[in-house]
Amino acid sequence: MLDSFVFYLLTVHGKGDRTYFISDRSLSCRAKEGSMSISKAASSNADTITKRLQIEHLLAPTLSPDNLSDGSDVIAGLTQTPKSLPARYFYDDRGSQLFEQICELPEYYLTRTETAILQKCAIEIARITDICELVELGSGSSTKTRILLDAYHQLGFPLRYLPIDISAGILEISARQLLADYDSLQVHAIASTYELALQQLIPKKLPNRMICFIGSTLGNLNPSECDVFFSQIISALNSDEYFLLGIDLQKPKHLLEAAYNDSQGVTAAFNLNMLHHLNKRFEGNFDPTQFEHWAFYNETEHQIEMHLRSLLQQTVQLHTLDLTIQFEKSETILTEISRKFDLNTLQQDLSSQGLKPLQVWTDPNQWFGLLLCQLQPSA
Ligand code: AVJ
Repeated sequence: MLDSFVFYLLTVHGKGDRTYFISDRSLSCRAKEGSMSISKAASSNADTITKRLQIEHLLAPTLSPDNLSDGSDVIAGLTQTPKSLPARYFYDDRGSQLFEQICELPEYYLTRTETAILQKCAIEIARITDICELVELGSGSSTKTRILLDAYHQLGFPLRYLPIDISAGILEISARQLLADYDSLQVHAIASTYELALQQLIPKKLPNRMICFIGSTLGNLNPSECDVFFSQIISALNSDEYFLLGIDLQKPKHLLEAAYNDSQGVTAAFNLNMLHHLNKRFEGNFDPTQFEHWAFYNETEHQIEMHLRSLLQQTVQLHTLDLTIQFEKSETILTEISRKFDLNTLQQDLSSQGLKPLQVWTDPNQWFGLLLCQLQPSA
């Protein structure tokens, strides 16, 4: 299907030129500042790109990001007290777009800070791991991964990348763009959930392997889910292989609350979009104007909690799920936790599970942390 696309490179000139890879079917880039230029992407190496790309689908073809479950998780969450919904329902197309906008907000320091750390330490990481293939969980557009690929490339290492993402569409588009930009790169993309992909990782082809889980997505997992996740990472790795983890750190409440209550209301729109998504997905009649965004830092649990709060007493139906839900005025639905970690505690946790932290990097404010761990041989 993608072969019929015409690809363009859209360059937004301004504070730090940015180049987007877009197709004739998706000329919908946001350019807030500066001018734009569009050029046809070099298509000369189209053949070599196809040779260097493999895409594996570990999901049944009928499952897409919009259609990942039968909705039993929605029923479970909405019939509980207090009500909750799984954070992954944020990410339909609109939700993913809003998340990208969040990453550029002045108050949302996470993406910017992690990028700066990566830029500083990528070469050091590449030197420690030596020749190594990169597996990435939730690769999305692979923007930050480029910093790592550049470092391995700069050291003259062969490049092999295994992105794992639930969205096959994003995987293929970003894989093709990477292949166009790095002519020695091999990509084996896996359209799958993390869990399934980690269980079925193909043997490595380079001397070493590193699983990357950056962007503080770990923060969405509660402590027991976190332990399960680490054990999945451990089973997927062989001794001496690497795990690179990016996490948001504890910091004063006002900074955290600003990051999740931005002045432009993008985070509010992102949160409320979950209701639009559920309406589409399950023939629902949520009226998002009858709910409000509510996010605060829970200092006991060290986590941001995002909720949707009902502005009045109301009844909502999700027809395909045969579900009718009552809301009291001010009743809330928990849509996300975003945990903020303490570097020492996290290092101890990782260590005790066999993932030894070799090196930790932070920014000058210590707002964000990047940990390079290595799986210890089991005694
Ligand atoms: C993608 C889970 C890292 O927790 O900060 C951003 C998602 N939620 N604004 C985060 C999110 C609200 C984000 N993660």
